Amino acid sequence: MKIEPLSKVMGAEVTGVNLNGPLTPAERDQLYQAFLDHLVLCVRGQSFADVGAFLNGARHFGAPKIQHMESFRFDDHPEAGVVSSEDRDVKDGKRIIRGTMFHTDESFIATPPKATILYAIDVPSRGGDTRYVNMRRAYETLPDETKNEIGELTAVHYYGKKRAGRKVPSLTEAQMAETPPVSHPVVRTHPETGAKALYAHETMTDYIAGMAPEASESLLRRLYDHSTQNPELQYHHQWRSGDFVIWDNRATLHAATADYDAHEKRLLYRTMLKGAATH
Ligand code: SIN
Repeated sequence: MKIEPLSKVMGAEVTGVNLNGPLTPAERDQLYQAFLDHLVLCVRGQSFADVGAFLNGARHFGAPKIQHMESFRFDDHPEAGVVSSEDRDVKDGKRIIRGTMFHTDESFIATPPKATILYAIDVPSRGGDTRYVNMRRAYETLPDETKNEIGELTAVHYYGKKRAGRKVPSLTEAQMAETPPVSHPVVRTHPETGAKALYAHETMTDYIAGMAPEASESLLRRLYDHSTQNPELQYHHQWRSGDFVIWDNRATLHAATADYDAHEKRLLYRTMLKGAATH
């Protein structure tokens, strides 16, 4: 097995391993440590016969959870779903490209998934990259006074947050009723590495608990701009068919890029791995 960095900011490429088969404990430890160190790990050249085999590959890294978005998941394997150029919104039936705003997955629940995995089946000839932000580095590069200001703060995350220009897939009324606002620390300490990371994003973070609305908006805007507007904090993954990419939701943001030809097919299997409470 060979593990090599994909960029200076984050990400590593793994070759010479087949996730279909069993791994030795040493191989599994090496892969898991690379995931923790590099935050985004791309295992190249994978070939899964079906979605069940993909989920078995994912289990080398943790336990897949039931996927929240019923409309995009498999009936016979509810721990997996698809991301597709054919995705449609559940309410208006219009074609959508999901996840184009920077976000970390399911921060709108109390125990957000520790990691997300995509496996690329069909990729467009150009574009459709997934963009990542290293939120560990985003935290480290904040001015000391901002670190002091936010160190003990908590933010409310809410799927139903109302903001002009925000685009997220519709949830049914029943799903909305099961998705109340939840709170998370603004600075999250990684349960496995102990490293601190910024944990706030414009897609789901609604407001800072206990702060006046204007002050909350202005602080969050500073944090969003700091994390998402700096190319030096980003890695853009250019997909190849057969890529199995896992990322750490506790220390990264990601976004899909809606820049590929609408006539080209993009199809990936997706799962998320169970996480723990953030407080
Ligand atoms: C996602 O948010 O998981 C989808 C990312 C992508 O389609 O590039």
